[in-house]
Amino acid sequence: MQIVTEQAIDPAPLAGKRVAIIGYGNQGRAQALNLADSGIDVVVGLREGSDTFDRVRADGLTPLALDKAPKGAALTMMLVPDELMTGIYGVIEPALEPGSALGFSHGLAVHFNHIRPREDLDLLLIAPKGPGTALRQLHTEGKGMPALWAVAQDRSGHARNIAFAYGRAIGCARAGLIASSFEEECVADLFNEQAVVWGGVPALLLAGYETLVEAGYSEEVAYFECVKELKLLADLVDERGIAAMREVISNTAELGAVLGGPAIVDHHVRTRMRDIMKSVREGEFAAQLAEEAAEGYPLLSKARDRARAHPAEAARQRLDDISPTSPSSSSD
Ligand SMILES: NC(=O)c1ccc[n+]([C@@H]2O[C@H](COP(=O)([O-])OP(=O)(O)OC[C@H]3O[C@@H](n4cnc5c(N)ncnc54)[C@H](OP(=O)(O)O)[C@@H]3O)[C@@H](O)[C@H]2O)c1
Repeated sequence: MQIVTEQAIDPAPLAGKRVAIIGYGNQGRAQALNLADSGIDVVVGLREGSDTFDRVRADGLTPLALDKAPKGAALTMMLVPDELMTGIYGVIEPALEPGSALGFSHGLAVHFNHIRPREDLDLLLIAPKGPGTALRQLHTEGKGMPALWAVAQDRSGHARNIAFAYGRAIGCARAGLIASSFEEECVADLFNEQAVVWGGVPALLLAGYETLVEAGYSEEVAYFECVKELKLLADLVDERGIAAMREVISNTAELGAVLGGPAIVDHHVRTRMRDIMKSVREGEFAAQLAEEAAEGYPLLSKARDRARAHPAEAARQRLDDISPTSPSSSSD
């Protein structure tokens, strides 16, 4: 694995240059503010009538219409929802300076050809490995969040150095820029979202909760056991890794984990994981995401309603009223 850090990066490719940030949401705001702190000339591109113009001005930055923002920018970063990039790219493309760079924080739109950027542009990826709020927070503390970097099109011959200078200016090079590709970043990210952390884990937590309640145990105890303890696990794994996490839980919990883990994640689960991997790699999921957006997000709105109505939410509320946040160092 190749990791580049701040000391090895020349800031010159962006020094005295303008960067246009398209979108001012989770990543857009954090990256724009970090760039401004690093002395970069930043403008923010927003859709017509957006309420966010005032927020950008209040943050001390310059908001512009989408079709104006890339004018004069050496680099334009696409920090809008992935499923909307096709239309938004169509609006900004005429304003992109010839021979300039176009950047992304996720590889989906380029890897699955949702947009086909102009031939004269450099195409680069700087994908911070965490949410924008944490990216900004770490930067203000003098720290950084690691990011993956990649180049898909190098017309200038300097795309890699522009990506490095950008990763440095948003603070990610303090922690390290890790070499990847648009495909790897995209597939690994989509796979994890569906099969592991954001799809698999919450579904497992709720299935455990429902199994305990169905067996006659109280909703509060079921929530405590199956959902709330996730934070203990996450903190321990983050601090120590999976092997050392096992060493600080009781023998009872450790034997339960050794027997229960493989019984739950058996060959059926691995087969489903491979199915998800196939759907991600072959672009089925990317097509479904585009369709979902075009239809006004019907699946997402139904799923949000179902999640809010789940009895586990009421149990969480009752527990939150009486229970402080669990300390991360506790063992099971
Ligand atoms: N969220 C994360 O933690 C995270 C982490 C790593 C990488 N990424 C990647 O970063 C990129 C941005 O993600 P994000 O989560 O930061 O996006 P986001 O918060 O959902 O983006 C919101 C911004 O997009 C603008 N926008 C929404 N619809 C638009 C439209 N139709 N036309 C023009 N602008 C529109 C919004 O405009 P208004 O201000 O007018 O509402 C807002 O400024 C994505 O590629 C994502 O995969 C995200």
